[in-house]
Amino acid sequence: MKIITDIISLRTYLKDKQSVSFVPTMGNLHEGHLSLVRTAKQHADYNVVSIFVNRLQFSPNEDFNQYPRTFERDCSLLKEAGVNVIFAPSEKILYPVQQEFLLSLPPLARTLEGRFRPDFFQGVATIVLKLFNIVQPKTAVFGKKDYQQLLLVREMVQQLNLPIEIISGETARSSNGLALSSRNNYLREEQRLEACRLYQSLLLIKQEVISGNTDFKMLEINAIKNLIQHGWKVDYITIQRSTLTPAKPNDKDLVVLGAAWLGKTRLIDNLEILD
Ligand code: PAF
Repeated sequence: MKIITDIISLRTYLKDKQSVSFVPTMGNLHEGHLSLVRTAKQHADYNVVSIFVNRLQFSPNEDFNQYPRTFERDCSLLKEAGVNVIFAPSEKILYPVQQEFLLSLPPLARTLEGRFRPDFFQGVATIVLKLFNIVQPKTAVFGKKDYQQLLLVREMVQQLNLPIEIISGETARSSNGLALSSRNNYLREEQRLEACRLYQSLLLIKQEVISGNTDFKMLEINAIKNLIQHGWKVDYITIQRSTLTPAKPNDKDLVVLGAAWLGKTRLIDNLEILD
């Protein structure tokens, strides 16, 4: 496995590689990332994983400085997983000058996460486009845990005619259902037990919808109330079409999404409700 930190060396290494799959990450890897890597490896001969904590997708009040950086451990996990190249550039390499060229994003970027994290998707789109330009993969894998991010990246690839197939990976969960996330590291012991309530709330909604309940508003309100009663601050719990447009009763292919704060930690999760 090679660890490459600059663009020229990466391009030189990948020059004669016909089929490259790519998994972008911000490091602090867990089973969720490793399952994306396994998926990526099935789709190409060579696999690149990037590790870069992208300042641009954090708002000034968010956790950029605190975000866990565990480079050595990440490298050994990726080596074990059989990754060919880790691309781990510095900020100077990816943002040599102040980033003034920015993408104008579609309305999808202004709902849900976009409402609560105003800089997030602009930053994600910018870094993902840069990384796609640098790596030029045939396939890239994104987790369904960041459902809205996955949809936006798909939309970007389509609208900008990028020759990259975007593949989605399932959300990895701990045994109590909690979606794996680097931000789970911020949770204290007792909060870790409580944290699975977000998943349980979404699961209850999913089960209700499957059994024919079409009162989506009431399902959302009940879930929000329950979380608040257990000390959460809820940004949203919402049932949407799988395209992330508002759902109506009798719609098929839905997704229920949630974002909520447990203490100082913001968690997100979602469950697809497919027909
Ligand atoms: O999902 C993430 O970890 C990040 O948003 C990504 C796609 C690596 C861009 O920084």
